[in-house]
Amino acid sequence: MPPTDGPFGPVMPTAELHIHIEGTLEPEMLVRLAARNGVTLPTTDIGELRSRYRFADLQSFLDLYYANLPVLRTEADFYDLGRAYLERAAVAGVRRAEIFFDPQTHMANGVPLAAVFGGLSAALADGAARDGVSADLILCFLRDLGAGAAEETLAAALPFREHFIGVGLDSAEVGHPPSLFRDVFGRAAAERLRLVAHAGEEGGPEYVWEALDELAAERIDHGIRAMEDPRLVGRLRDEQIPLTVCPLSNVALRVVDALEAHMLPAMLEAGLRVCLNSDDPAYFGGYIDDNLEAVRRELGLSDAQMATLARNSFDACFAPDDAKERWKAEVDDYAARNAPAAG
Ligand code: ADE
Ligand code: ZN
Repeated sequence: MPPTDGPFGPVMPTAELHIHIEGTLEPEMLVRLAARNGVTLPTTDIGELRSRYRFADLQSFLDLYYANLPVLRTEADFYDLGRAYLERAAVAGVRRAEIFFDPQTHMANGVPLAAVFGGLSAALADGAARDGVSADLILCFLRDLGAGAAEETLAAALPFREHFIGVGLDSAEVGHPPSLFRDVFGRAAAERLRLVAHAGEEGGPEYVWEALDELAAERIDHGIRAMEDPRLVGRLRDEQIPLTVCPLSNVALRVVDALEAHMLPAMLEAGLRVCLNSDDPAYFGGYIDDNLEAVRRELGLSDAQMATLARNSFDACFAPDDAKERWKAEVDDYAARNAPAAG
């Protein structure tokens, strides 16, 4: 079962719905996998590797993220990556994880899809059995490789249909609008796959509109730039469309100037269904618990707002309704136990 208490007291139960498994590749594992697979890295010094994790924007991060991925070669590598994330997520209070992966990168690196699915699925099964974390996979299309490549990827992945529950859209946003992917998302919907898309991270509100109207996205990943468009905010609020917000990522990629300037409080104030996530925790300075702690500290979120984020995460997830209700009841218990004593 997942721990109910962390090193600093009780841990709030949450779902994590915006996590790229490749973005959990810590420098220590990078070095270990490089040695195991005979891959040469520019350096094996952990401190030096970590010191390179400073980014000017999304593209400068993606350049490093993709450059590190050739160390992932075998089913065992994908298992180890997934297993390490789920162990860490359990400590952070995660009950439910919906995990992105980027198959196009691995296929381009010569890795068979069977190794990717085999390793990650085995890690998810062990995460459920050993850590009590319910988890599923969401296959992301790399938008900068275009719609044709996305179609080919979906076709190649369909023989593994039982191993993933949905599709998403990630990588370099600006210049690669959601509308380009309408047909492939339609095909995914016909396969009863759930639909999510990164939009409104570096791209403007129009990318969020397109993700909703052209892709029928059920959740928007990031979506923070929606706040620039009051009509869009109204739509997101009225339809309670979930937004998977990643504050430490936004600071690391300079999408916001500083955590204190983050629009999360305004999003909550506007009644949006926002939840918190870590995106690529090995690169952005923390896992989901670090993100939660940072917004509590820097943005002064109240206990009630923290609990709202957790309830939203379960409302927004793709698990069965009975599990969602059970997890939300756990949040209520947590909130009640941690409420300041009356009087
Ligand atoms: N791939 C991994 N992390 C990403 C992010 N924050 N935005 C777009 N694509 C990504
Ligand atoms: Zn992301």
